[in-house]
Amino acid sequence: MNNVLLISGHPDLKSSHSNATIISEFLKLYKDASVRRLDEMYPDYRIDVKSEQMALVKADIIIWQFPYYWYYMPALLKKWLDDVFTHGFAHGSKGKSLEGKKLIISFTTGASEEEYQHGEAMNFKVEEFLNPFVQTANLCGLQLLKPVYSNGMMYVNGISTEDDLSKIKAKATDHARRLYELVLKQE
Ligand SMILES: Cc1cc2nc3c(=O)[nH]c(=O)nc-3n(C[C@H](O)[C@H](O)[C@H](O)COP(=O)(O)O)c2cc1C
Repeated sequence: MNNVLLISGHPDLKSSHSNATIISEFLKLYKDASVRRLDEMYPDYRIDVKSEQMALVKADIIIWQFPYYWYYMPALLKKWLDDVFTHGFAHGSKGKSLEGKKLIISFTTGASEEEYQHGEAMNFKVEEFLNPFVQTANLCGLQLLKPVYSNGMMYVNGISTEDDLSKIKAKATDHARRLYELVLKQE
C-alpha cells in the first residue's frame, strides 16, 4: 500500500466549505493517508523544514490540496514550497530526495468551467495555468499525475457564484472520490 501524504494548503480550513469537505471525505475513503494541515501547524508561516522534509521522504504519493488563489496556490502553501523544496533536497545535483515519487495537485476554483475558456472571464482553460506545477515536478524528478480539480466552488458569506452550498458540498464529495480513485490506480 502506498504511503499517501496530503498537504493542506488552505489558509483557514475552518472557514472552508470545499477543501474541508474534500479532505474529510477523502479520509473516509483512504483512512491511512497522513494529512498535514499547514494552517494549524504554521499559523505564523514559520515552517519546520526538517519535519516537512522527513514527511516527504516517507511518502510515495504527495497530494497538494488547495483553493486556487490568483491562478496558483495560496501564499501559505507557496511559503511551504519555498522553504521545503530546497536545493540539495528537492533539486540540484545532490537533491534527489523526491525522485520517483508521485505528485497530485488537487484544487478548487471559484470561477466556473464556462469562465475558464478562451474569450471568457478567465481567458484561459484551467490546464493552461498549470505549467509552473509541471516544471516544478520535472525539476524535482516527481511524476505529476493528472490534476484533480473542481470549478465553481466559491461560497463566501452565504454568497455563491454558482451553486448553493449543498451542491458545492456534493461536488466536493465527488472530487474526493475522483482523488481516491486516482490514488488507488497507483497501487
Ligand atoms: C485571495 C483569493 C484569490 C482567489 N483567486 C481565484 C482565482 O484566481 N481563480 C478562481 O477561480 N477562484 C479564485 N478564488 C476563489 C477560491 O478559489 C474559492 O473561494 C475556493 O476554491 C473555495 O474553496 P474553500 O471553500 O475550501 O475555501 C480566490 C479566492 C480568494 C480568497
